[in-house]
Amino acid sequence: MPITTCIFDAYGTLFDVAAAARQAASEPQFSKIKDTWPQLAENWRLKQLQYTWLRAITQAHTDFWEVTQDGLDWALEKCGVDGDAELRERLLALYWELQAYPEVPEMLQTLKTAGLNTAILSNGSPDMLDGAVQSAGIETLLDDNLSVQSVGIFKPDSLVYDLVGQRFGCAKDEVLFVSSNGWDAAGATGYGFTTAWVNRSGEPMDRLPWKPKHVLNDLTDIPKIVGL
Ligand code: LAC
Repeated sequence: MPITTCIFDAYGTLFDVAAAARQAASEPQFSKIKDTWPQLAENWRLKQLQYTWLRAITQAHTDFWEVTQDGLDWALEKCGVDGDAELRERLLALYWELQAYPEVPEMLQTLKTAGLNTAILSNGSPDMLDGAVQSAGIETLLDDNLSVQSVGIFKPDSLVYDLVGQRFGCAKDEVLFVSSNGWDAAGATGYGFTTAWVNRSGEPMDRLPWKPKHVLNDLTDIPKIVGL
C-alpha cells in the first residue's frame, strides 16, 4: 500500500531535547553548567526514558511531565547541581519551548501540500505537545498531536501505536512512522508500520528483533521516502 499517513515521534525527532540544557548553559547565571551541559542533557533524557519503560512494565503509569521532572532531578544530582532551584525551574520552562530541527517546517509543508496525513505520536502529555508545537510554529502543518495519555501507558506498548489507525482509519502498512529513538523505531516496526529511524548522531543500531526500514541522518528525505 502507498503511504498515506506520516507519524512523528516528538522529543528528539521533531524537537531538539538538548536545546534546553544548551540554552540554559549559555545564560550567565547558569555558567556552572557551561562545560557539563551535554552530560546533563544526556542523563536527563536517558533517565526520563528509563522511567517510561519501567513505569510501563510495572503498570505504574504517570504523566510524562512527572517522569521528565524525575529524570531531571536525577541528572542534576549526578552533575552535583541539585541544590539550584532556579536552574531546575529554568530547564523545565525551556522544555516547553524546545526548538524544532531546522528542516522540520519545509519537510512537513511538502507532506501537507501532497495531501498526506501528518501527526505527532508521543509520550508527551497533550499540553506539553501543544506548547512545543506552538513555540516551533508548526501547528498548521500537523493534523493532530496524539498522546499516550488517552491509553495510560508509554511506548512501545502497542496500545499507543493503535492510536494512529483509530485516528486516521488507515491500515498499518499505509503508515510511515518516524523516530530518532532506535527503540521506538524498532517497536513500531514490530507493530507493522513502515519505519524511518533518524540517527543524527551516528548511534549503533539497537540490538532488538526488529530493524527500521529506513535509516536517515535527518528529516530532509522523508518526502522522498514516501514517493514525493
Ligand atoms: C516521545 C519521546 C519518546 O516523544 O521522544 O514519545
